[in-house]
Amino acid sequence: MNISSLSFSSPFFLAPLAGYTDSAFRRIAHEWGSACGITEMVSAEGLARGSDKTEDLLIRYPGEERLAVQLFAPDADPVRRCLDTLMKHSPQMIDFNCGCPVNKVVKTGAGSALMKTPEKIHEIVSFLKQNTDVPVSVKFRLGWDSGSINYLEFADACVSAGADMVTLHARTRAQGYSGNADWTCIRRLKEKLKDTDVKVFASGDILSAQAACDCLRETGCDGVMFARGAIGNPFIFTQTGKLLQGEVFTVTLEERIATALRHLEYMCALYGKETGCRDMRKHAIGYVRGLRGASKVKEAISHAASEDDYRRAFDMLEA
Ligand SMILES: Cc1cc2nc3c(=O)[nH]c(=O)nc-3n(C[C@H](O)[C@H](O)[C@H](O)COP(=O)(O)O)c2cc1C
Repeated sequence: MNISSLSFSSPFFLAPLAGYTDSAFRRIAHEWGSACGITEMVSAEGLARGSDKTEDLLIRYPGEERLAVQLFAPDADPVRRCLDTLMKHSPQMIDFNCGCPVNKVVKTGAGSALMKTPEKIHEIVSFLKQNTDVPVSVKFRLGWDSGSINYLEFADACVSAGADMVTLHARTRAQGYSGNADWTCIRRLKEKLKDTDVKVFASGDILSAQAACDCLRETGCDGVMFARGAIGNPFIFTQTGKLLQGEVFTVTLEERIATALRHLEYMCALYGKETGCRDMRKHAIGYVRGLRGASKVKEAISHAASEDDYRRAFDMLEA
């Protein structure tokens, strides 16, 4: 799969997830088949002002070859000012966030509030296309609410400015993360862009390999982004690839635990042991979800503070 002149090993990407998609998670996802990881949303203003905490979000894992950096901003001004810092990190792709529903973000005019001002995304994408040579993508929603669905017009603004890819999270801002994603809209968007080189990615309710295959088939989209479905479940990338070939891939308990412990190792390498072990808890809960014995394991994970604590917790899982 190609986006502009950049090739990818598969059409399955790890979606941007604030608080989750650091280099440790992207590395584990890549080991299981993610073709590209996207940073969590990064403040263009923070980068422009030289915030180390913001720039740390751009740290790669050793050998990470496909990294998309997702920016957010209310308009083109901070994007212009952060460009030198951003490009020092040589991202393979720049994604722009027009989907974040969080009040703190939308009240500044950023995230999904940008869907109300398509002329601003046009200016931002034009600037990035004129001043970088990397593919540019935009991730957006159906619209602000059910009374203002405008994803097709919004896509026009992105595409006419030169966007190479668009990702539709098929919910409105008002829906947040609840209700069902409406994949028929993804089909309409793909249909609209079918004679262009612009890649259309789907997001929303792609929570299993089966859902990913259904979404690819029903919408004709070029690729899918796994978000909540990949938390504690990086196996979903391999499972989807196999399922497309008609095979069912089941991960063993040993592989699951080994992957979770490797993820923990990457977290500790990135943040140090104390923070790494603490921040791993939200991922570890995902790794054991739905397994036999999970409730007592989750309880143990909720105060795990060392690698040994995690080992002991996972040992309580019943085969
Ligand atoms: C905890 C969390 C954090 C998220 N952070 C971001 C983000 O930083 N940027 C973004 O574009 N989308 C973000 N999203 C949206 C996801 O990328 C995705 O579009 C959404 O969860 C729908 O997919 P799903 O239903 O398969 O989870 C976030 C979602 C969740 C649940």
